[in-house]
Amino acid sequence: MAKVSYIFVAIALSFSASVLGLTKETYEISSNAAGYMINGQVENTNAGLRIPLTLNSNQKNAATNLYGKTIDNLIVNVEYETEERLHVKISDAQNKQPVVPNSPLGLIRPNITSYAFENRNYDFEYTAKPFGFRVIRNSDKTIVFDTTNMPLVFEDQYLELSTSIPKDANIYGFGEVTAPFKRTSNVTTIWARDKPDPFYGNIYGSHPYYSEVRDGKSHGVFLLSSHGMDVITVDGRITYKVIGGILDFYFFVPKSGTAGDLSIAYTDLIGKPMMPAHWMLGWHHCRYGYHDIDAVETVVKKYKEANIPLQTAWIDIDYMDQYKDFTSDPVNFPINRMVDFGKTLHEDGQSYVVMVDPAISANSTYEPYTRGVDMSVFIKNPDGTDYIGAVWPGYTVFPDWWHPNATAYWEKEIIDWVNLLGVDGLWIDMNEPSSFCLGSCGSGKINAGLQSQKVLDKEHAAQEAALNAMGNPKGETRNLLYPKYAINNGAGNLSEHTVATTAVHYGNVPHYDIHNLYGYAESYHTRNALIKHNDSIRPFILTRSSFAGSGKYAGHWTGDNHSLWSYLKTSIANVLNMQMFGITYSGSDVCGFLENTTEQLCTRWMELGSFYPFARNHNNKGQIDQEPYLWKSTAEASRIALNIRYTLLPYYYTLFEESNRLGTGVWRPLFFEYPNYEELSSNDVQVLLGSDILISPVLYENATTVDAQFPIGIWYDWYTHEVTVNNDAVTKVTLDAPLAHIPLHIRGGSIIPAKTPKYTVGETYATDYNLIIALDNTGSASGRLYIDDGESLNVASYSDINFVYENGQLQASGKFGYSKPEKLSSVTIIGEKASQLKTATVGNTRAKKTYKSKHTGNSVVFEGFSIDLTQTFTIKFN
Ligand code: NOJ
Repeated sequence: MAKVSYIFVAIALSFSASVLGLTKETYEISSNAAGYMINGQVENTNAGLRIPLTLNSNQKNAATNLYGKTIDNLIVNVEYETEERLHVKISDAQNKQPVVPNSPLGLIRPNITSYAFENRNYDFEYTAKPFGFRVIRNSDKTIVFDTTNMPLVFEDQYLELSTSIPKDANIYGFGEVTAPFKRTSNVTTIWARDKPDPFYGNIYGSHPYYSEVRDGKSHGVFLLSSHGMDVITVDGRITYKVIGGILDFYFFVPKSGTAGDLSIAYTDLIGKPMMPAHWMLGWHHCRYGYHDIDAVETVVKKYKEANIPLQTAWIDIDYMDQYKDFTSDPVNFPINRMVDFGKTLHEDGQSYVVMVDPAISANSTYEPYTRGVDMSVFIKNPDGTDYIGAVWPGYTVFPDWWHPNATAYWEKEIIDWVNLLGVDGLWIDMNEPSSFCLGSCGSGKINAGLQSQKVLDKEHAAQEAALNAMGNPKGETRNLLYPKYAINNGAGNLSEHTVATTAVHYGNVPHYDIHNLYGYAESYHTRNALIKHNDSIRPFILTRSSFAGSGKYAGHWTGDNHSLWSYLKTSIANVLNMQMFGITYSGSDVCGFLENTTEQLCTRWMELGSFYPFARNHNNKGQIDQEPYLWKSTAEASRIALNIRYTLLPYYYTLFEESNRLGTGVWRPLFFEYPNYEELSSNDVQVLLGSDILISPVLYENATTVDAQFPIGIWYDWYTHEVTVNNDAVTKVTLDAPLAHIPLHIRGGSIIPAKTPKYTVGETYATDYNLIIALDNTGSASGRLYIDDGESLNVASYSDINFVYENGQLQASGKFGYSKPEKLSSVTIIGEKASQLKTATVGNTRAKKTYKSKHTGNSVVFEGFSIDLTQTFTIKFN
């Protein structure tokens, strides 16, 4: 490959940053950087290649020490990890730079015993001077990643690497962020932060991962880094600007090129999403600001009176005594009432979740604090004393998840509390971690936490002075508080509203290096504690802060959104991002958290939110009430939409099983399923549930129609079974959507397992199975049903049934291992040919046709079967 110089290209790619209000420093590449060249022998290793680099300092005008100390000698380790995954690690030759710690990351760095020297779907090429590399997809020679025209900067507190991408590339990912699903010119800052979902700003989670769809094929790129960074996407390039660590890249180039196989490849590395229990798929209700346990009980009662299915009641920090974890307010939420509430919920087949924050009140009469102090388990100041920030209870300390005592400490607190309350799961919040003062304010008693903003502002200068005076961790020479390249953190300096970057974790690790892992690590410890508490059932954890791989431990809600139409719309992109990041059990606060909702907004949000993979209404303290029974239209829409969700529970569950086993999304963007249709590439206003249900919600105020895109094939209206489109190109249709109606369509060619919806998930699951068969143009369809007991952590028996409908015959085959008897009692067939069907024959029994389509004559229902789902069977329709 010809050697190239990046200087000229850099000029061509420079971008007018002023438009977006960001400095040139953020947007532009360091075109004057010295760069690196190969120095010595490129070695073949047992994994791939080892390439030694040295600074290209004799280049004219070579600039070094741009934002830190330039590191002269680097090693590039190229490892052909699998046929579809390439690992390119650029590290300092001396291995002094901090890397993402293995613990508690679980399996993120797999043990590989044999490398893919053959049959790889990628090639790795490089240039010697300046050093650059390309990752090439072998099947069609597409260059998927190309740094050869771009500078490489490697300093202790600044690393920069860019890849060329095509103009108007289809880039998805980088987050967590609230933004359109397809990423255009923008900066994504990755630095976990507690902030109510500002558009484009950095928020709770850290996912340095993106996927690109080019010419109908997907590939993905993951930078395994816990350091703060800006990722700049502009037309023609992506640039990473990272404030520490190494450049540890993974490239995923699936042979099929499908987005599904890309998800599999990515989650093979970061871990597969956790498997939810049945109950977790029901409807959840929560709010911050229920004054007492009576208020929560009333909500549960009123849901029931309104006949809106409610599976899980949540209680926010309101229940705590002075906002202290593992306590309950003796007056408003007395512990016996809290316990009884859980018992009643369980008797009624419902479920119970409460919040736990990581910050522990620094109060010498409070045992979770004194026990933690005795175990030395909290994050420290550089001088070895406890770091004391401020959260809801006032001054607080923060568990150091990397401390060897963290497991024992957290296990005890969590298990005791969960045992006492009898809750089904935990909601872990504020784990960016959030802190309301700057620095270790409690160490100097600078302020006491929950103050008015005015007081906090006044105190800020004093806090900052104290923070500056606190100094660096032992032996640390970097400028951790104010790195020269200041990423575009929305909060300002890195230590604002969180734990200071100079605070110290076990092993003298500064918070600077692992800030983005805090919520991940808490999820890991919380999951382990819950499993220790009860190792027979699947634990439930909902976390706010996340990192790549968090999905294996927890679900996620997208944090504090706003009761605004724009947030209803963007919730789709938010949830789709999480699917791509391997946190498939995710959703947004339905009806909106901040600001007051309206009847119409809440109605539309209940309609869409009923189909989120994780579906929960949640509201902020001080806003008007937004329980769905409060307005007529909202109640009606909720009943309709939630009945459909509950009808689809086996379909959801089957999708979650696939997600857990493979890593595929439960919600999917249309373009990922139909990647050859570029006109779908920006569609983030509709979504596919699995491959088979198209959801086209109303997202605009006063709208009563939806301008929907339909991918190729036949799509049937969920409600009428009529053919909405039958096309061989993407088609636009304006759909009617009066207030209580959410347009839903079934893909012709699919078989959807269903249940009869009841009030709770358990009651719904106790009904027989039904099948909805939607025929394609050849009169065929296929689908899948996964069955287990819906709660065991280690599944003892399961069935995995494939259904195929062809030539008027339904064939069920696969694995029939589930030990309990399950029955199929009805089959609905949708399609032109279906209406002519008169009889259904199972074995020798002739089932009577009891029902013909009410709607259009386009479907037919056969009821009254009693087919055991314990062995293969065939039904013949005539
Ligand atoms: C912030 C969370 O994002 C929100 O959901 C919760 O209600 C409040 N903390 C109070 O706990």
